Amino acid sequence: MEDNIKSPMAETRKHILDTLDKAQEILTLPSVIQRILEVTSSKNSSVAELKDIIESDPALTTRILSVANSAYYGFVRKVSTISHAVVVLGFEEIKNIALGMSVLKLFDRKGSVFMERLWRHSLAVAVATRMVASHLGLKLEGKYFVGGLLHDIGKIFLYQYMPEVYGVLLTEMLDNDNVYTYHRLETLICGVSHEEIGGRLLNSWGFPPDITDAVKYHHLPGLAVTDKVFAICIHLADILCSIKGITPLDDHFFLPVDRDILDDLYSLKEDFSTDDMVFLLERLDLEIERHSSFVTMFR
Ligand SMILES: [Fe+2]
Ligand SMILES: [Fe+2]
Repeated sequence: MEDNIKSPMAETRKHILDTLDKAQEILTLPSVIQRILEVTSSKNSSVAELKDIIESDPALTTRILSVANSAYYGFVRKVSTISHAVVVLGFEEIKNIALGMSVLKLFDRKGSVFMERLWRHSLAVAVATRMVASHLGLKLEGKYFVGGLLHDIGKIFLYQYMPEVYGVLLTEMLDNDNVYTYHRLETLICGVSHEEIGGRLLNSWGFPPDITDAVKYHHLPGLAVTDKVFAICIHLADILCSIKGITPLDDHFFLPVDRDILDDLYSLKEDFSTDDMVFLLERLDLEIERHSSFVTMFR
């Protein structure tokens, strides 16, 4: 089948990366989000500054307050002002929420079975990444949810900006009787992986390096440098969702575990075994249900 593929890999890769460069001029984050990124990355910023920026956008204000009051955080006292939200959630968390909410809005996510499945997969991986992080005893931060939510953003880009190439891949997925995995076809047909595209996109938006890196290496977390454990969480979450059949494509491959992460996994949880994966699999539906109202705020 490799001979049947029309585009020579290197040429297609260049074409895709050129299109990505051009698309990045259009795919810009709203100025309010860019200002939030600036303020939250500066050591000298104050709560008042961040509050003023958020309150300049009423829709964002409402969404942040809804998130702060959701069961996801479980605060006992009602969070009724942005100042209060900034204090209880912290700069990092506000930044993660705002980024997660704004990035997906840049893409048209409706109107096709593939996009519907990819959206469902992304939300499930977001919840699962948080669940895995918690299971591994990590301090829960919004970055786990946001990293999981955006991990396959490269696929959204390929689908919307490279339909002539990605359409070939999707057709081949259906026609090759599960002989080739998605990743093999992606390499053969596109010459570039969705993880690489995702990493480039997040980098262009000024995302923190731990999120960018975790997205870039979610299939090979052993290669992540900034926060390998974060990449491992997305990796395991993706595998859990693939076993459950919550996948963007109706294929029958389980994603393989990157064996390079085993030592890191055992240093986090000494007796990590298939029992942990079974426990997490059984818990996933409940977690998805529990966070369903939180999750819809990212739609
Ligand atoms: Fe992926
Ligand atoms: Fe995925």
